[in-house]
Amino acid sequence: MTPVERREALEAIAVEVRGCTRCRLHAGRTKAVPGEGHPDTEVVFVGEGPGLNEDRQGRPFVGRAGDLLVRFLGTIGWKRDDVFITNVVKCRPPDNRDPEPDEIAACWPYLERQLSALDPALIVTLGRHSMGRFIPGARIGLAHGTLHPVDPATGAPSAMVYAMYHPAAALRSSDVERLSYEDAAGIPAALLEARRRRPGAASVNAPGPAAISASLTTSESITIDTAPDAPTFF
Ligand code: URA
Ligand code: SF4
Repeated sequence: MTPVERREALEAIAVEVRGCTRCRLHAGRTKAVPGEGHPDTEVVFVGEGPGLNEDRQGRPFVGRAGDLLVRFLGTIGWKRDDVFITNVVKCRPPDNRDPEPDEIAACWPYLERQLSALDPALIVTLGRHSMGRFIPGARIGLAHGTLHPVDPATGAPSAMVYAMYHPAAALRSSDVERLSYEDAAGIPAALLEARRRRPGAASVNAPGPAAISASLTTSESITIDTAPDAPTFF
């Protein structure tokens, strides 16, 4: 896909999402939140679902959790526009309840298509619901800060997944906040490792329009699960 085709594909998905009535969440939304970011990025962040501010603005992670996410990115020298940010459900669940499995399933094709257009090297999951779709059976307390091969059925067969706590959880707990800063520090090394494992990796390192700096200085802070078929260790 050329960069122009990628932009068009992402915009077409966003238009569909804004008019979508595939699950009950459409009934309570003000605006659907398709996601946004750099169309040529190597890194996609996937949260849970829009909250109050996101529902009002039609943009992901623009409330307090979003501010914290931007602070995490800032610690590694990244801006929100360097990456793509979206959610497993694109419409706000009432009273910010967890999305139901059938709602996640109904919305999944949009995320799958976004990932297939973006073809990221690294997917960073924010919270349990997002992690659960990419690393089935994982427990957040053990999986956060670790890198995993992605389930090929996700639409991003050549990506790796790095799990983080949800920033809203970090707002509620200073322990989770501290762990989240540590996990954020591990993102550049996770990206380097994900790049290294991509099919045809040699050419991927060429700086592109959205070249993101990934330094090795934080590599000691991540644990990498090197055996996709090994029994899970959590
Ligand atoms: N929480 C999420 O999971 N997603 C958003 O977009 C905002 C808050
Ligand atoms: Fe459609 Fe997803 Fe919104 Fe449900 S949450 S109405 S599937 S866009």
